[in-house]
Amino acid sequence: MFKILSKRRLNPTMTWLVIDAPLVAKKARPGQFIILRTDEYGERIPLTMAGHDAEKGTIDLIYAAVGRTTMLMDQLEEGDYLLDVVGPLGKPTHMEGLKRVAVVGGGTGNALAYPLATGMHKEGIHVDMIAGFKNKEMVILEDEFKAGTDRLFLTTDDGSYGEKGFTTDKLKELIEAGNEYDEIVAVGPPVMMKFVCKIAEEYGIPSVASLTAYMIDGTGMCGGCRCVIGGENKFVCVDGPEFDGSLVDWDELIRRNSFYKDQEQEDAKHICR
Ligand code: FES
Repeated sequence: MFKILSKRRLNPTMTWLVIDAPLVAKKARPGQFIILRTDEYGERIPLTMAGHDAEKGTIDLIYAAVGRTTMLMDQLEEGDYLLDVVGPLGKPTHMEGLKRVAVVGGGTGNALAYPLATGMHKEGIHVDMIAGFKNKEMVILEDEFKAGTDRLFLTTDDGSYGEKGFTTDKLKELIEAGNEYDEIVAVGPPVMMKFVCKIAEEYGIPSVASLTAYMIDGTGMCGGCRCVIGGENKFVCVDGPEFDGSLVDWDELIRRNSFYKDQEQEDAKHICR
């Protein structure tokens, strides 16, 4: 059992939990994820660790309450427990040889972008963070990005906070202004990542995309998280979650990620909030 040590609401749907998980915290690296179950009848869901503290034995999880399990998690409070936390899983973020990167986060993807961007910054890499949100109400982690990266560029679709526009516009503007990047990292909705990686390709900059997928075992056995990279089948859980953005078959990923949308929406209706 894994105790919830603290719970902080970030916006109307997103919440930050600190969980007591010493063995996971000891081995965790930025970019890795865990799979959890809330109870014995629960489904298994993957969540990227937003941070970890090996000394305190804690891991940080940020989730959006949009499906059955995350809605159930939302009903738990400090002092309550999660049944299972398995991890750390996946490959850590690749950082070797990088001097200057742009990390582009979209919506809830900013929760995943946070450990990557701040982890790179801690390693001495210059990080320009472009964080995009729908509107002011949905903005998360502004202070944390400011403190943990070199520059934060915040955009909202409706212009209610930060600069009006999309992350892709800001990325283009920064590249056009002469900012040189060794790599562009995209974390967010697949459609946004697809266009971020296209821009990177246009300017001849390597790109990395952090993919999310349905997962069951998290060990490469079930095939649930299959994606197509450079024409080959790969598994997000063991080969990723980060892949060369220019090689991702985005249309296939978008199709697979929407397989169970209707069932998920129906299922979520049965959770009392
Ligand atoms: Fe089963 Fe990745 S979750 S193969």
